[in-house]
Amino acid sequence: MVVTDEKTIENTDWEPRIVGFLCRWCSYAGADLAGISRLDYPPNSIFIKVPCTGRVDPTFVLKAFADGADAVFISGCHLGDCHYIEGNYKTMRRFEILKETLKQLGIHERRFQLTWISASEAQKLKEFLTSMTSSIKELGPIQLPILAPLQKEDKQDD
Ligand code: FES
Repeated sequence: MVVTDEKTIENTDWEPRIVGFLCRWCSYAGADLAGISRLDYPPNSIFIKVPCTGRVDPTFVLKAFADGADAVFISGCHLGDCHYIEGNYKTMRRFEILKETLKQLGIHERRFQLTWISASEAQKLKEFLTSMTSSIKELGPIQLPILAPLQKEDKQDD
């Protein structure tokens, strides 16, 4: 059974919560540059610094959704620029598999994205965040009954 995440926006003040895993060498440095350059981008994303996109375990993504993220993205060095040679190639392969799995869980494909942004591409990061945020706003809040047991388990652990 595939559960869908239909949109129901009752509260017009709703803002999406987006979690981004950014590799420290490229995209996280690009985010720093965006900040230093005072680029104006939507404040909906939380950035998590990782050593390389290859370090993003699929469970990190599932946990982000289980913890209430409306969308998740991974951003790293351009292909050929990974500081660990092929970390981003591994990520690219994993991403396709994980995206399919998430679809089976009823998570719309626009809610999980992968991008390559270098340390000098602050403007590209801004455009990506602006586009992703508006795309998730269109979809509305995520509704995933299938993740409810995970969320309950987490609350009991606290
Ligand atoms: S070091 Fe940036 S993607 Fe591997």
